[in-house]
Amino acid sequence: MNRNDAPKTPATFHVKSFGCQMNVYDGERMAEMLGARGMTAAAEGVDADLVILNTCHIREKAVDKVYSDIGRMTRDDGTRPMIAVAGCVAQAEGSEISRRARNVDIVVGPQAYHRLPDLIDRAGRGEAAVDTDMPAASKFGALPARSKQARPTAFLTIMEGCDKFCTYCVVPYTRGAEISRSWNAILDEAKALVDGGVREITLLGQNVNAWTGEDDRGRMQGMDGLVRELAKISGLARIRYTTSHPNDMSDGLIAAHGEEPKLMPFLHLPVQSGNDRILKAMNRSHSVDSYLRIIERVREMRPDIALSGDFIVGFPGESDAEFEDTLRIVDQVRYAQCYSFKYSSRPGTPAADMDGQIAAEVMDERLARLQAAINRHQVTFNSATVGRSTNILLERKGRYPGQLIGKSPWLQSVHITAPELGIGDMVEVEIISAGPNSLAGQPSRRKAA
Ligand code: SAH
Ligand code: SF4
Ligand code: F3S
Repeated sequence: MNRNDAPKTPATFHVKSFGCQMNVYDGERMAEMLGARGMTAAAEGVDADLVILNTCHIREKAVDKVYSDIGRMTRDDGTRPMIAVAGCVAQAEGSEISRRARNVDIVVGPQAYHRLPDLIDRAGRGEAAVDTDMPAASKFGALPARSKQARPTAFLTIMEGCDKFCTYCVVPYTRGAEISRSWNAILDEAKALVDGGVREITLLGQNVNAWTGEDDRGRMQGMDGLVRELAKISGLARIRYTTSHPNDMSDGLIAAHGEEPKLMPFLHLPVQSGNDRILKAMNRSHSVDSYLRIIERVREMRPDIALSGDFIVGFPGESDAEFEDTLRIVDQVRYAQCYSFKYSSRPGTPAADMDGQIAAEVMDERLARLQAAINRHQVTFNSATVGRSTNILLERKGRYPGQLIGKSPWLQSVHITAPELGIGDMVEVEIISAGPNSLAGQPSRRKAA
C-alpha cells in the first residue's frame, strides 16, 4: 500500500454509501461509532481525513463506480485522504482491492466494521488493514447505542444475510448466512430511536421476513410477532419492512397487514420474472402462481396495499415469449412502483456460466418496454389517490419557501406548502394532484378553516 501522503491520525471522516438500504444503515452506524470516538463528520469526500466508501457488489456497474471514485480521491495539492473500502465489494474482493487500487488503506467487510477504529490505527502506522471476517459474535454488540437522529424516519437492521442462493446473486457470498438479531436487541434499538425523535422505523434485512427469534418469555416468534411488539412503543407511529422474499411471507405476517394499524400498507415483494422456467433457472423456489396467490391473500387482508417488486430482464436463456410473461405479471399485479434491472453477470455465481447470455441491445429494449409498463401502473396508482384524505409524515424541506415533503402510508412523496408545520409532524392532507413520482397535498385543517 502506498501510504506516503495520507493522514496518519484522521480527525474528520466522510461515509459514502452505495447499494441497498442495509448499506445506508451500516453507513449510519459507522458514522455514529466514529462520532462517539471523537471524530467529526465532513460534508464532502476528499476534504475529509478519512473517506469510507461503503460499496455494493450486486451489479458490475456498481463495482465500476467504486473504482472510479477511488481514482478521483487525490486533492488539488497532491495529498489524499485515508481511504477505506467497506461493504460488499470489500467482502467479495478483499485484499485484491488494494492490489488493484494502490491508494486504498483499509478494506473492511460488512460484518467487521465495528473493528474500524483498530483498522484506522493500523493503517495510520502503515500496516496492512484488511478485515473480511464474519465473526461469530455479532458486530451489533460492539457498536455504541443509537444517538439522536436528525430525521423522523430511521432504518433498523433486524436480520442479515441470505440462504436462498438465487443463481444470479452475490448477496449470499457477500453477506453470509441468514442471521436474526435478538428480540431484545431490536426492541432496545427501536426504543432508543424513538427516544431520539424517530416516528417511523423501516425494519431491514436481505430477506427481512425470514426473521425469527425468541421473545422475552422464550416463545418462538416470527416477524409478525416482532411487528406487533414494536407497535406497542407509544411514540412510534409507523412500521415498514424491506426486502421480503415470497417464501417467507407467513400467514401471521399477511394477517398483521389487516390487523396492525401501525404496519403501513406497502409491501415490497420481488418476483424477478413472470415465467416459471426462468424462475426455476434463477432458483427462486416460488412459481408465478404461488406468488400471485400471496398477493391475492395480502390484498384480501388489506385491499388498499401498495405493491412493489424487483425485476431482472435478460437472464441467460430468456426468450422473447418468456420476457412477455414478465410484462403480463406486471399487468396482473398492478404494482404501485418497481425496480427493474438488466441482468449483470457476476463472477462466481452459477448463472455466469449458463448458456444463452443475452445481447446488450436485447436487454436495453426489454428494459425499456418493462419500464413503460411499470410507469403506466405507477401513474394509475398515484392518480387514484387524488381527492383522498390521508396522513403524511413530514420528512424534509422542499425547494420553495414554506414547502415540506412527507410520505403517504403508500410510500409516495407528498409536497405541501405549510409554513406553520415542521419536520416530524404527522398531518392529515387532501391529495390535490398526482404526477408519476410525487403527489401534491393540502393540509385538511386549513381547508376546513
Ligand atoms: N433479497 C432481495 C433482493 C436483494 S438484491 C430479494 O431476493 O428479493 C436487490 C435486487 O437486485 C434483486 O431483487 C434483483 O432484482 C437485483 N439483482 C440481484 N442480482 C442481480 C444481477 N446479477 N443482475 C441484475 N440484477 C440483480
Ligand atoms: Fe439475492 Fe435471491 Fe438472496 Fe435476494 S433471495 S438476496 S436475490 S440470493
Ligand atoms: Fe449491494 Fe451488498 Fe446490498 S451487494 S444490494 S450492498 S447487500
